[in-house]
Amino acid sequence: MAEPMRGMKRTCRCAELSEKNIGEEVTVMGWVQKQRNMGNIIFADLRDRSGILQIIFEEDGGNGCQGKAAKLRSEFVIAVKGTVTARSGAVNQNLSTGTIELRAKELRILSESETPPFPIEENSRTKEDLRLKYRYLDLRRPDLQRNIIMRSRVAGIIRQFLAEEGFIEIETPVLTKSTPEGARDYLVPSRVHPGSFYALPQSPQLFKQLLMCAGYDRYFQIVKCFRDEDLRADRQPEFTQVDMELSFADEDDVIDVNERLLKKLFKEVLDVDIELPIQRMTWQEAMDRFGSDKPDMRFGMELKNVSETVKGCGFQVFTGALEAGGSVRGINAEGQAAMPRKKIDALVKLAKDFGAKGLAYLAINEDGTYKCSFEKFMQEEELKALVAAMDGKPGDLLLFAADNDKVVYDVLGNVRLEIAEKAGLLKKDEYKFLWVTEFPEFEYSEEQGRYLAMHHPFTMPFEEDIQYIGTEPEKVRARAYDIVLNGIELGGGSVRIHQDDVQETMLKALGFTEERAHEQFGFLLDAFKYGVPPHAGLAYGFDRLVMLMAGLDNIRDVIAFPKVKDASCPMTDAPDVVEDGQLEELCLKLDVDVQ
Ligand code: AMO
Ligand code: AMP
Repeated sequence: MAEPMRGMKRTCRCAELSEKNIGEEVTVMGWVQKQRNMGNIIFADLRDRSGILQIIFEEDGGNGCQGKAAKLRSEFVIAVKGTVTARSGAVNQNLSTGTIELRAKELRILSESETPPFPIEENSRTKEDLRLKYRYLDLRRPDLQRNIIMRSRVAGIIRQFLAEEGFIEIETPVLTKSTPEGARDYLVPSRVHPGSFYALPQSPQLFKQLLMCAGYDRYFQIVKCFRDEDLRADRQPEFTQVDMELSFADEDDVIDVNERLLKKLFKEVLDVDIELPIQRMTWQEAMDRFGSDKPDMRFGMELKNVSETVKGCGFQVFTGALEAGGSVRGINAEGQAAMPRKKIDALVKLAKDFGAKGLAYLAINEDGTYKCSFEKFMQEEELKALVAAMDGKPGDLLLFAADNDKVVYDVLGNVRLEIAEKAGLLKKDEYKFLWVTEFPEFEYSEEQGRYLAMHHPFTMPFEEDIQYIGTEPEKVRARAYDIVLNGIELGGGSVRIHQDDVQETMLKALGFTEERAHEQFGFLLDAFKYGVPPHAGLAYGFDRLVMLMAGLDNIRDVIAFPKVKDASCPMTDAPDVVEDGQLEELCLKLDVDVQ
């Protein structure tokens, strides 16, 4: 039976107590982790967000609380008043409170609990589906609590740092118009304007640029963003950005303040020293060396372009790709020559998943002979030249992809990661940052048959490349930069266009008619007519940042109430059908059968 808290006041949290408090009378409140009834003595582990404290209920403990203690079950919420004493039994090395216990004088059962559907414990082996259905119980687990508390701490340090650097925190609307970040929008129907919809922001991009026009100079916000895209381990439909914008600033100013922010964060939260400046690499170099615009710098295994070496060789797969304007590149998986056929086949399959027609391999046996999937197509000398070009030594495994550059980069970039992961080269406690710079301004979309902005349409091109916008857009480099950590895109930003002639050329190249541009973001273009400062900014994926700092692989583990793969929430059952009356009010008719 639940009792009131009346008259009892919590004096501290469970794990805030230590040997220093021996002899003190305290009151703690929390959840029963487990109870052990030894007959004459009852033990209970009491848990709150700080940790666990052992409570001991003795026969003569007073006030008959031992009788009540016999009724305790896991997850009952209780209040206990008692005296801190040295542990009577064996010390528990696994607990920070392992040398003490609380000798109970008074016990209140504040609420009872049914048997939970899974044990509330660290490193749960319970399936995530079930845990997410009962997320409020899952969130009681110490590891998840640590993540969520770390998240709050990281946000706090960011806020404090940015405030000290002169940034002003300003909120931007959630019910707004479509922002051009390139994903699908979430729409909200308007009741007052039947047939019209708000879009939830994919980012505060346009508003933060307006704030620069409005003279706020340095803005930041820790803000929810919404993107209707396929979920992955590092993607959620609603996620949080640390978003910022700076006036009278260029890429070096943005990079400088952010490097100092990252240094402070990693030092204060993880006691990890980040060396500044963080390495910078152009997009082209990142693609050529790592086959990725977010290279994992914790290991080498760089791509090598062997197009010159295999030009004119007898292997049609290679020469055919070159004749079609593509390239042949390889990676050297050092010391992996003995990789069993099955594992090589799995790599070939992976390559095919990324669009390759195949993945050619050459293993250099310890005796210098080769085991090679294209041996019969090449002369001995040609093979030797290829091995030399790859710095191949006995014991190495060489893997090659031949195709257009895009496919070759993608395939080898991913094969490289897969090999590193399997070989245990990816250490969680090693933090390798990288700025990737000079992204292409445009990206050709086969699907839409036109060029799209790789970042967004307000990204400043390099001045010397502006001349190519109308004629050779693929040549135009953007003053955009991404911050990459251990192969994950942590954040991205750019210097923005503030000259109307450049903006006009850009929009034209992206296929915007003047009308459509005005419809979509006329307010921004108009604002720029009234005095716009040069400005630049950046946004971090805050969930990704916390995930990496916590050494985790999935952003769900740092989000209190995340969505699952199909963008639904197993706990609330959102999204859900609505009443006919609600639809009518919104003038909406459904063209789908819903039960
Ligand atoms: P961008 O689109 O690169 O830039 O987004 C910034 C960062 O947000 C994170 N992110 C996500 N995290 C979780 N789930 C998602 N679905 C998701 N999508 C993006 C990534 C990414 O690097 N307005 C620009 C920033 C700017 O130019 O200042 C923007 O939104 O870590
Ligand atoms: P095949 O002649 O199709 O048996 O191919 C010989 C080898 O070349 C096999 O190991 C294939 O996986 C590989 N291969 C086929 N196409 C490509 C390609 N485009 N790039 C790299 N390797 C390829």
